[in-house]
Amino acid sequence: MDARTRLCCLIGNPVGHSLSPMIHNTLAKEMGINLVYTAFKVEDGRVGDAIKGADAFDVLGMNVTVPHKCRVIEELKSIDPLAEKIGAVNTLVRTDGGYKGYNTDITGLWRELVEEEVEITGREIIILGAGGASKAITYLCASKGAYRIYLLNRSIEKAEMLADEVNSYFGDVVCPRTLDEYVKIPHDKKYPIIQTTSVGLHPDDDNAPVLDGEFYKLAEVGVDIIFNPSETKFMKLCKSAGARACNGLKMLLYQGIAAFELWNNVKVPEELADKILKMMEKELA
Ligand code: ATR
Repeated sequence: MDARTRLCCLIGNPVGHSLSPMIHNTLAKEMGINLVYTAFKVEDGRVGDAIKGADAFDVLGMNVTVPHKCRVIEELKSIDPLAEKIGAVNTLVRTDGGYKGYNTDITGLWRELVEEEVEITGREIIILGAGGASKAITYLCASKGAYRIYLLNRSIEKAEMLADEVNSYFGDVVCPRTLDEYVKIPHDKKYPIIQTTSVGLHPDDDNAPVLDGEFYKLAEVGVDIIFNPSETKFMKLCKSAGARACNGLKMLLYQGIAAFELWNNVKVPEELADKILKMMEKELA
């Protein structure tokens, strides 16, 4: 670090276990960019102060995590149109007169889906959960031309609200259902299933939003956005039913890479992405 070192950071609460500093500091070092990345715990009610402070300190870019992904929008100079529809941003890029907000969680997930050969366009798919993460993913899949999205959630009201919102942009794509209504989904074909709830996150390792093995007969491939544990109960159930399954670690890496590329106007080489993925796997193990 010297007088020209640029600062990027994560804001959220909690941030203590984040892998983002490892991702960005490795990218900066390997790509010879004079940048340092750290994490700041920001309490509710201090988001505006944090953004103003960052602006004053000429912070180059920020990631935003739970619980500030929606609240931070009020502090932005401008916002990417898809991030605006989703109502959540996780990446801020410095522009003249303030920060512009993006949602690289969805670009990250899309890159993972393409790499894992999970086909969405023209397909019928199943999404579990209707919270903040599901909202971004449901928008993503609808915007990428999913033919039908079965949105399964514990409380039907939240699934219906999200379905109405997404359908107002994309037509009648999203079908809201309760979790146990999977039995009504046609069983004569297989579906990509994306798991967006926090059920199964460590230490709740032996849990999944649906535990009935019957459900997993619908799976062609299961994608869990959780990466800790590295093989979730949802993934195990998918595999037991003969489907492929992957976790959310690549999504995390690729959202970080997308942010890094926006901040520095560079393209991160694939070999470097692979190297960092291995570091992340090792760190989690
Ligand atoms: P996030 O931003 O991580 O998506 P969230 O907005 O609080 O978090 O949403 C959590 C999601 O997990 C919701 O879909 C929630 O279902 P409800 O809308 O019915 O609350 C789902 N969820 C949480 N705990 C669950 C459980 N024990 N079983 C099934 N679904 C659960």
